[in-house]
Amino acid sequence: MNNTELLALLKPEAAMVDNVMRDDLATIESPELFKIIHHAIFNGGKRIRPLLAVLASQLCDERDQSQKTGETGDIYKFAITFEYLHAASLLHDDVIDHADKRRGRTAANVIWGNTPVILAGDFLHARAMLLAGTAGTVECLKIISKATSAMVEAEFLQLQNVEQVDYSKKNYFRVLSGKTAALISAACETGIIQAGGNDRERNALRSYGTNLGLAFQIVDDLLDYLGDSNKTGKATGNDFAEGKMTLPLIHALAYSDPDQKNVLMNLLKSDRKERARNVDTAKEIIQGKNGFQYARNTAEGLISTAVSELDIFKKSPAKNILISLAGYVLKRDK
Ligand code: IPE
Ligand code: IPE
Ligand code: MG
Ligand code: MG
Repeated sequence: MNNTELLALLKPEAAMVDNVMRDDLATIESPELFKIIHHAIFNGGKRIRPLLAVLASQLCDERDQSQKTGETGDIYKFAITFEYLHAASLLHDDVIDHADKRRGRTAANVIWGNTPVILAGDFLHARAMLLAGTAGTVECLKIISKATSAMVEAEFLQLQNVEQVDYSKKNYFRVLSGKTAALISAACETGIIQAGGNDRERNALRSYGTNLGLAFQIVDDLLDYLGDSNKTGKATGNDFAEGKMTLPLIHALAYSDPDQKNVLMNLLKSDRKERARNVDTAKEIIQGKNGFQYARNTAEGLISTAVSELDIFKKSPAKNILISLAGYVLKRDK
């Protein structure tokens, strides 16, 4: 299945997710909050996380209804928890990363300023927890809350890595596990819990989600250097400008000769403006040390692990889509 076929197949499910969010958000009272949230949510996001929760639940579709722990019919209501948490994290992330573009439009922080945007993120956060606690089981709420705290911990670690110019792979992967993989994994694991999945199935989905999430962020980090900003909808070169230690750069720092390493280190220790002016220099050094190829190979390895976790499930349309989604993560250009 190619990207276009996959996206076409997921369109009806994505539309369901959108409808449930639209209804749920209709009760917002403040006109400004309503505008910010609509800007943050209804603007061409891929809906990967809620779709993963829905698909994971469909792996148990033929199971006896009495085994299902979630209220039937509520899987979409439950699944939108993940889009809210994701959108909240992006609102906050664009403030943290000084980003001015998101999903091809002016970032909310540029339009409304940091304060309203941070508050809107908090609102989505609270709303997500309400949904997780009402449409989901207590166990699911625990998993989701844990993932959310891991996201915040990872942001702190990422800040620390920038400050200390820490280019260890270990810390890079710790950041990825928290900031991206935790939520994606929680969407997969809780999706199957809601549908009555057993421990073995849960573990498989948790690991599928973790590996998929890690690869997803590595590809995002590659797109930050190499992507077409008309497609990604975000500015390119922003990670290097922010001094972010992502895998292509980490690999180059580990393998470059002393002169090149000096160039990179001096840029990393200078200011944002200087780095923004020198993104192409960094790109050339990274390219020369096969940093981009290395990151791509790493993402590919993680994706094959993710797919192999699905072996325990018998053939079904949902399984097929989850396999294709893993492939899509590698091929995506947005
Ligand atoms: C962007 O996530 C942030 C990362 C975790 C890399 P997505 O690429 O899923 O963003 P949207 O929702 O489709 O815009
Ligand atoms: C992902 O990191 C952000 C979150 C998981 C909150 P990035 O900072 O790389 O995401 P983009 O590139 O801005 O979407
Ligand atoms: Mg960012
Ligand atoms: Mg990024």
